[in-house]
Formats: sequence, structure tokens, C-alpha cells
Amino acid sequence: MNNYVLIGFMGCGKTTIGKKLADRMGMEQLDTDALIVQEAGMPVTEIFHREGEQGFRLRETKMLESLVRSGRENTVYSTGGGIVMQEENRNLLHRLGTVVLLEITPEEVIRRLGKDTTRPLLQGEDRMKKVRTLMARRRKAYEDCADRKIEVSGKTPEAIMEEILKSPQEI
Ligand code: S3P
Repeated sequence: MNNYVLIGFMGCGKTTIGKKLADRMGMEQLDTDALIVQEAGMPVTEIFHREGEQGFRLRETKMLESLVRSGRENTVYSTGGGIVMQEENRNLLHRLGTVVLLEITPEEVIRRLGKDTTRPLLQGEDRMKKVRTLMARRRKAYEDCADRKIEVSGKTPEAIMEEILKSPQEI
């Protein structure tokens, strides 16, 4: 598979960079969150509200399974920040393509998403604490899943895209 799979914490730019990368490479970009929303016919916040985080995670796994089954190539996949937490998903992500982890600092997440209302896991008081706790809990899963890692804080989307393209894909 010549696909790229972008993973990383909320706000790291998986969708923005995925679109740029796809444009540059003449590939298609698909976003697992957008596909889930489309299929469910409701936004992520409502899926969490009605089905809980567990329901959303189930939808993520089913979506990954169907994407793997599709066998599509020439695609940049952008994913939801929590998709790496199930081992099954990590295996499916690898089957989709080269997994690139976009690493971000908690400070930068807060700068970007301090007022965001679309991420159920960041709502409420003390967002910085929420970000730090979730990041710590997820760090190993991100590391285990990544074929390559790129630090994004303080870089432009163009610079990040160039970095992704610089080193050859590992398949
Ligand atoms: C989540 C990240 C979100 C979305 C959902 C859950 C997470 O995607 O999938 O709100 O658990 O980190 P982004 O990473 O695109 O914000």
C-alpha cells in the first residue's frame, strides 16, 4: 500500500496536513471522523452523547475494517486522536499504510483548541489538565503504532508536509 495514515493527538493537524499531502501527491484524502459522521448522520458530539465513547470507538473499528477491506491505494487517511487506543485498531491502521505520528505539545493543543466545542473529551473545566492526562495515557499507544514521528509544534503545515515527504515510506 502506498497510503499514508496520519495519527496523533487532537489538534495536531491530521486533517489539514492530510489534505495538503493528498493535494501535493495527487492522492485522495479520507478522514475517519468525517466518514463516521457521514455514516451515523450525526456529529461526533451527538454520537458521544447518545452512544458514549464506547459507541464511538466501536464505530471507529468498524470504519477501519471496512477501509482495510476496500484495499484502496493512493490515499491519505486522517484519523481521530483516540483511534490508537485499541490494539485491534493499531493493527488495522498498519494494514492501511505507513503510519505517521504528528507529535504536539499540550501547550500547542490548548493554543489551537482552547475554545473548541466539537471535541467531547476536552469540554468542561481545566482543559490543560485534561490534555496532559489524556496525552500521558495515550503516549505508548501512539509510539507503538507509529512507523515515523514528526514534531509539529511551531511548524507550518507546508514544512510538516515536506518532512513527511522527505524520508521514504517504510512499508
Ligand atoms: C477524539 C478525537 C477527535 C474525535 C473524537 C475523539 C479523541 O478527532 O475522533 O472527538 O479521542 O482524541 P481529532 O483528533 O480529529 O480531533
